[in-house]
Amino acid sequence: MKKIYIGSDHGGFKLKQTVKEYLEERDYTVKDLGCDSTDSCDYPEFGKAVAEKVVADSGSLGIVICGSGIGISIAANRVQGARCALANSTELAELGRQHNGANVLALGARTQFMDDPMDIVETFLKTEIDEGERHERRRAQLG
Ligand code: RB5
Repeated sequence: MKKIYIGSDHGGFKLKQTVKEYLEERDYTVKDLGCDSTDSCDYPEFGKAVAEKVVADSGSLGIVICGSGIGISIAANRVQGARCALANSTELAELGRQHNGANVLALGARTQFMDDPMDIVETFLKTEIDEGERHERRRAQLG
């Protein structure tokens, strides 16, 4: 079973706890890198922390959550080797994995989801990267 690194700011804390419980009940190994409460904190720290772990730990995946999902996804994407996809639907989670080779999923806890966030998480974790030549070529250009 894949190892999942998870992190959020205060805006994503409650959803992070829900995602964590959901994954642990399904026997995923979840490493929670914080935050630890709804007290105000800064999303760049947690986006970076999760992305760095995912890049260092081959085969692992990450989930980052803030209010909009935007700030923490930007933070994760600034780590070399991290590809973070912000998704509010299972379709985007699937495409982010298949086409873009995303290794980190971002969720916006204070935004509207088109699908249940747990289904989005499940889709992201279960979808394999499409190894087709055109996708490989485009991913290679991302650096
Ligand atoms: C925190 O108030 C909020 O700015 C943060 O959770 C996120 O939405 C940033 O992109």
